[in-house]
Amino acid sequence: MTEKNAVQIKINEATGAVEKELGRDFDLAIILGSGLGKFAEKLQGRKSLSYEKIPHFCGSTVQGHAGRLSAGVLSGKKVLMMEGRFHYYEGHEMAQVTLPIRVMQQLGIPRLIVTNAAGGVNKSFHPGQLMLICDHINTMGINPLRGANLSDFGVRFPDLSEAYDQGYRNLARQVAEENKIDLVEGVYAYCCGPSYETPAEVRFYEKIGVDAVGMSTVPEVIVARHGGMRVLGLSCITNAAAGVTEKTLNHQEVMEAAAAAFDDFTLLLREFVRQMD
Ligand code: HPA
Repeated sequence: MTEKNAVQIKINEATGAVEKELGRDFDLAIILGSGLGKFAEKLQGRKSLSYEKIPHFCGSTVQGHAGRLSAGVLSGKKVLMMEGRFHYYEGHEMAQVTLPIRVMQQLGIPRLIVTNAAGGVNKSFHPGQLMLICDHINTMGINPLRGANLSDFGVRFPDLSEAYDQGYRNLARQVAEENKIDLVEGVYAYCCGPSYETPAEVRFYEKIGVDAVGMSTVPEVIVARHGGMRVLGLSCITNAAAGVTEKTLNHQEVMEAAAAAFDDFTLLLREFVRQMD
């Protein structure tokens, strides 16, 4: 069996399990990052499926990531929501980290909202703010599309000149303005983790144009764009990155800051989803 066929079989098996339990008719998918899992409670008629019951999905090992897929209605749109995601630092391969995106594409879902907790590199940012991701830097030197190209999903050399959809960014800005939500905008850098960055790394990232750092999102967005999904990226700035202030970092603080931003996050997402095309 070719590598491509083996991957496709896994995608088909995972998709089959999701479709059987949750259906296949969705307007969009949302991935909830650290500390933002509670947002799934906003889904009307919510039905959930544990990752453990989906073939080839891995369990989520991170505190604040529930590890299930939920379906329901948000602002009149049919949503498939990931309560928790897979990270490369957990030991998963990139194909596993991004398998849920392939399942979304196999289900025909055309839109993705990807969210995360991130450390603020930009000195004007403060914890509790939301950041619209306008672009990203993949510091990892590895790419989730390495290997046989899945040509049923997309081309060998996908263009990333607009990884984060311009129209969606405009709409998010407009929604933030209308609802007086403090929304900043910036470039997200993907670092492996699980250790936080050193102050020297953060100074380097600032110099190359990074506004926030985190340990997720970029692999998912690359695969989402390969398969032609329109993407909105939203970071919750949970802390100043290492060395930006005197403070040391810990996951508890990240979770608490995400909880503090939760009302703004909820309002922004709800209104965005209501108005998105
Ligand atoms: N660095 C990397 N990932 C993060 C951070 C950080 O400072 N805060 C939340 N996720």
